[in-house]
This record gives sequence, C-alpha cells and structure tokens, in this order.
Amino acid sequence: MHSLSDVMERVDTQTFREDTFERRVSRRFTKREVAAFLGVDVTFLAHAAKADTELFPTGKRSGREVTFSADEVGIIRALLGSKPRIKPAHIHWRKPGDPLKVIAFGALKGGTGKTLSSAHFAQYLALAYGLRVGVIDSDPQATCSLYFAGDGMDVFTETSRTAIDFMGLSALDGKPPALPPAAEQNDIWQQTPWPGVRMIPGGMDIMNGDMALMRMYQSGNNRIYAALSEAIDHWSKAHQPKAIATDLRNDDGTFNLDKYRTALTETLDVIVIDQQPSMTFMQMCGTVSADSLVVPMTMKGFDLSTLSVYAESLASYLDVISEADPSFKFGSGDHFVLPSIVQGDNEKDVHQIADLRAHGGDMVAQVWYDRSAAVANASEQYMSIYEYTPPDGRKVSAKNFTDNANAVNDYIVSRALPHLPDRGFGAQFISDRWGE
Ligand SMILES: Nc1ncnc2c1ncn2[C@@H]1O[C@H](COP(=O)(O)OP(=O)(O)O)[C@@H](O)[C@H]1O
Ligand SMILES: [Mg+2]
Repeated sequence: MHSLSDVMERVDTQTFREDTFERRVSRRFTKREVAAFLGVDVTFLAHAAKADTELFPTGKRSGREVTFSADEVGIIRALLGSKPRIKPAHIHWRKPGDPLKVIAFGALKGGTGKTLSSAHFAQYLALAYGLRVGVIDSDPQATCSLYFAGDGMDVFTETSRTAIDFMGLSALDGKPPALPPAAEQNDIWQQTPWPGVRMIPGGMDIMNGDMALMRMYQSGNNRIYAALSEAIDHWSKAHQPKAIATDLRNDDGTFNLDKYRTALTETLDVIVIDQQPSMTFMQMCGTVSADSLVVPMTMKGFDLSTLSVYAESLASYLDVISEADPSFKFGSGDHFVLPSIVQGDNEKDVHQIADLRAHGGDMVAQVWYDRSAAVANASEQYMSIYEYTPPDGRKVSAKNFTDNANAVNDYIVSRALPHLPDRGFGAQFISDRWGE
C-alpha cells in the first residue's frame, strides 16, 4: 500500500481534473433552452430584452445561434422577476418565514447514480428556478465535490472543511457537538462556479464524524442522529431570507445588480445532500435531517436486493429514533425510489419498473435516468450533463440525456418541492414512455 500510494503520488492524476476546474462553468445555453428553463416562450424573451436594454445580457453569438451562460440565465430571470406586478412569478426564492427544504439522495450501494442525481438536481434548481442551493457532499469519497469544484475553492486539501466541521464534530471526546458560531458555519459553505450554488465538500474527515458520534453515544449522549439537523437549524436561524423580488429594483425602476448578487448568498432555499453508500451514523444524520429522501437505484437483481436491506434497516433505525425521541420530527415530505441507469434496449429493466410500480405505486418514480454514454463521457471530465459541451459526434446523445435529466429533475420538483411550478419536462417523459 505504501508503494501504491507512492506511485499514485507520482502519476499526475490531477492534471485532467484541474483543467476542468479552471474552465468551469463554460457551458452555454441557447435561447430556446433559456426560455424552457424560465417557463416562457422565445418571443417573450425577445420582448423582455427590448424592455430592459441596459442590463439584459446580449449573450454570445456563434454562427446563427446566440447562447447564454448559467450566470446570464440568472440575471435574465432576475430582470423579468423583479418587474412590478409580473405574472407568473420568475423568482422562486423562499420568503421570510418559509421553511428551508432538505432533500437527501441515499442508497446502500455504490454506483446507483446518487451523486449524479444530486449534482444534476442542485444545478437544475439553480437553472430552472434560480434557487439558492446548498450541496452537502456527505461522502468520504467526495465525488460530488468533483462535479462542483472550481478555481478558488478549498477542496481536496488538508485544510478544506467538511460536514463534520459544520456539525461541530471535530473533537473525538464524546461530548455533544460543539457547534461553531453561525457566521463561521456560513464560511464553510463554499461558493461554487454555479450561480447561487454553495457546497460543503466531502472528504475522508467524514469517517471521523462517525467516530465522534460513536464516542458521543458511548459517553451517554444519545441524540447523535440529530447532529446534522441541529447544525442546519443553528446556521439557518441566523441566515433567514430577506430579499423579495421587488427589492431588486431601485426607486427609479432600474435593476440593482449588487442587490441581486447579495440576495444570492444571504440564505439557501434548498439543501441537497449526497449520501455515502453505507449505513453509517453520518448517513443516518443526513436522512433524518431531510424532508424528502430520494433513493436512486438500478433495476438489476443484485442492486435491488441491497434496496431491501436498505429499506429494512433504515425502517428499524427510524423506529428506534421515533420511539426514543417522539418529539423529533423528520421526513415530513415525499419520498421515493428513482430508477437509474436504466437500459432502454433491455425490456427487463422497464418491466421491472412497471412491476415495482404495480406493487408500490408512487413509492417508485414514474420517471427515470436512462443509461447513457453521454453522461459517462461527461463524468470522465468531472462534468455533469448541464456542464458538458459535447464534440460534434455526441451532440444528439448529450441533448437526449439533458432532456432526460430535465424530466427527472422536474419530476423530483413535483414530488419534493410541489410549491414550485413544474416545467412540463416530467409530464413529457411520462407521455412518451407510458403513453399517459
Ligand atoms: N445514467 C447513466 N448512464 C451511464 N452511466 C452512468 C449513469 N449514471 C451514472 N453513471 C456512471 O456510474 C458511475 C456511478 O455514478 P454515481 O452518480 O457516482 O453513483 P453513486 O453516487 O451512487 O456511487 C459514474 O461513473 C457515472 O458516470
Ligand atoms: Mg456517490
């Protein structure tokens, strides 16, 4: 192992990775894509551009196409949404007093698409709703961090802080968590290159979190399961939403870009947790801090048997917590299994979904992730499909998988964040695949 570690040190595995981090997020979106994310049509966009000429992003012209960056999509939304009396609303930030929603992606097995599902979902919430999203990478392997890491971020280093710092679990002394002041917790959320998206990176430290929680338990501090939800509450109380859409305009009606940028970091609207593939105390903390749990799962027999084990052991853990601490509330939202890496050319996979739904109804999502070469290519470069710019020969498969990701994310929104207007992508998938 020493020799292997030396070899890995010498082999330059970082170059490719760093290359991606520097170029992030360079993907651009066509007018049609921007309009779809905003839930308007292209002509409406053109009118809006004429009305707000001084700040409306002109985009970049290449050939006949004009394209916009993720940041520009956000500005266009804010310009539209801050107009007085605009209907429907384009800014979907939570208002003072609205709850902060937490959605966890978890399963017992590795390789079921948890990380890609959570990364895609977080980016979609930013693109399609302009939400302020916090991603907690709760996996020691830190793969989710790979999809978000960019220049200027402190990830994969000795000093980078993880969920255990946010939870005040750095000491292994068996004492209850020593939560840092809320302002310090806030610094642990690192700005990613995605507008509005902040992240607490993963890392090997997360394994120490389990050790710390174990020691706490041995010392008679039984509320170990509450460690993350209490840390989130503590941070959240000091970082409530303030800005509302009309605040983004000055008295003379001009748009205030600074106010928009400040509002993007004043709070979070949704937290997305990417869980590690094992039933640890840390995974338990993530699960009970969530309003909704999404369980990405492939439809193969071997993987489905891990789903049985996961459901059974999670159910008994949760029973123990409910019995010991009846006032501790968790999981008030909707939960479901999300079929993933489904082989379309293999009827068996789709039959499996239909069979599961015949028995379990909406416990299993009606929308799923297809197996796709496009996402495999993108993730080779540490990119999600919302970031990947395909070479010419791969444009079609990348477009198909983007549509697929939009459908899955729109569906998750309809189940886990039903107060948001849907974008129709999920319904389109259901009509294409189920004929409904
Ligand atoms: N829909 C898909 N089609 C093809 N490959 C996929 C798909 N989703 C995930 N993968 C690949 O499977 C691997 C595991 O995905 P990941 O999201 O990291 O799973 P997990 O977090 O559950 O371990 C990655 O290499 C990824 O590129
Ligand atoms: Mg993962």
